[in-house]
Amino acid sequence: MYCLGLMSGTSVDGIDAALVKITGKELDVKLELLWGINHHYPEKLRQKILEVAGGKPLSMEEWSQLDEEIAFSFFEAVEIIRGKYPNIDLIASHGQTVYHRPPLKKKLGYTMQLGRGEIITNLTGIPTINNFRGADIAAGGQGAPLVSKIDAYVLSHPHYYRCVQNIGGIGNVTYLPAKKEEKWENKILGWDTGPGNVLIDLTVQKLTKGQKTYDNNGEWAAQGTSNQPLIEKWLKEDFFQQKPPKSTGRELFGQDYLEKCWQDAQTYDLSETDFLATITDLTAASIVDSYQKCLKQPIDEILLCGGGSHNLYLRKRIQDRCPKTTIVKTTDEVGMNSDFKEAIAFAVLGYWRYITHTPGNLPQVTGAKQAVLLGEIHLPL
Ligand SMILES: Nc1ncnc2c1ncn2[C@@H]1O[C@H](COP(=O)(O)OP(=O)(O)O)[C@@H](O)[C@H]1O
Ligand SMILES: [Mg+2]
Repeated sequence: MYCLGLMSGTSVDGIDAALVKITGKELDVKLELLWGINHHYPEKLRQKILEVAGGKPLSMEEWSQLDEEIAFSFFEAVEIIRGKYPNIDLIASHGQTVYHRPPLKKKLGYTMQLGRGEIITNLTGIPTINNFRGADIAAGGQGAPLVSKIDAYVLSHPHYYRCVQNIGGIGNVTYLPAKKEEKWENKILGWDTGPGNVLIDLTVQKLTKGQKTYDNNGEWAAQGTSNQPLIEKWLKEDFFQQKPPKSTGRELFGQDYLEKCWQDAQTYDLSETDFLATITDLTAASIVDSYQKCLKQPIDEILLCGGGSHNLYLRKRIQDRCPKTTIVKTTDEVGMNSDFKEAIAFAVLGYWRYITHTPGNLPQVTGAKQAVLLGEIHLPL
C-alpha cells in the first residue's frame, strides 16, 4: 500500500509530504519511506495563514477562499510526488492548523485544520482522509498529540525507556516505557510540551525585521548566554504547571506571549543575542522540566525529530539539562527519518482509518473517553 502523508504544522514552513510503503496488519505495521519533500506555500498564502492563526478575523468568503487555496497547495505537493511515483493508493492529509482550543473542564475542545479533503480527492482521484483531530476532540480529548500510538509501535525498545520529542512549532512528546515491562502499552504517555520553534522563529523575525524566519542550526543563539532567572519566571506559566493530558498552540505561545517575554527581558538589559539564547533555552527547559514533573522513570534516550532537532544550541541545552545517563539523539539514528516523522505518522493514521479500521488515538494521552477511528474519508467519483 502506497500511502502519502501530508502535514503542515504550526511553524507554517510548508507542507511535508511523505510517501510511505506500508505493509502489515493493524499495529504490526512495517514502514518504508520512499520519498519526502517540503513544498513551500506561496509567500502571500503563508502570510495569510500566519495572520489568521494569529487571530485576524476573516469574512466567510475570505475563509472559504483560504480553505481552497490551502487545498490547492496540498494538491501541488501530491503532484510533485506523483511525478516520480504515479501509483499512490491513499492520501492522509493533516491539513493546516489555524486554530486550536484545548478542552476546558466540561467544555469540549475545538480545532481547525484547513485544506479541504474533498477537493484533494477530486483533483487527484485518490481516496483522501483528513480532519484527523475532530473525532478525538468529540470524545472529550485534546485532539493532540496523535502520533503516540505510531511512536509506540515503531520506536519502542525492549530495554530502553525512551522519550520521542517532536520539535515543530509546538513541541510534543511520547514517553515509551521499555517493552520488558508488563503491560508496557498501558504505561505510554504523551503531551504537548509547549513552544517548539514558534517563539524562536518569532524572535528571529522580530530581531531581523522579517529578513530571517529561523535561527539556522541555532548558530545565532549559540553565541549568547541564556538568562536563568527569566526562564524560571517563564516556567511558572500555567501551561507548564498543568498535568497531562494537555495541548497548546499559537493561541497561547504566539506574538503576544513573545512581547511579554521581551518586556520581561528589558529588566535584565539583555543583548539581542542573549534574548534569543534565553528564548531557545526556554524551549529546552520546558521539555526537560515536563519530563521531570510527569515521569517517575529515568529516561535512557531522548529521540528528537521535527525541524527543531536541527537547532544545535537547542539540542545542547536539552542535553545539558538532562542527567548524564540520558542520551540525546535524533530518530534518524534509530531508523526513522526525523524531518518526515510527523507526515509518516499521518500516513499510518490514514492506513489505520481506511484499510484496517484501527482506532488511532491513545485515550491515556489525549484524554478522550475512548479509542476512536480518526479522520474523515473522501472518495473520488
Ligand atoms: N537547520 C535548521 N536550524 C534550525 N532550525 C530549523 C532548521 N530547519 C528547520 N528548523 C526549524 O524547524 C521549523 C519547522 O519544523 P517542523 O517540524 O516542520 O514544524 P511544524 O510541524 O510546526 O511545521 C522551522 O520553522 C525552523 O524553526
Ligand atoms: Mg513544518
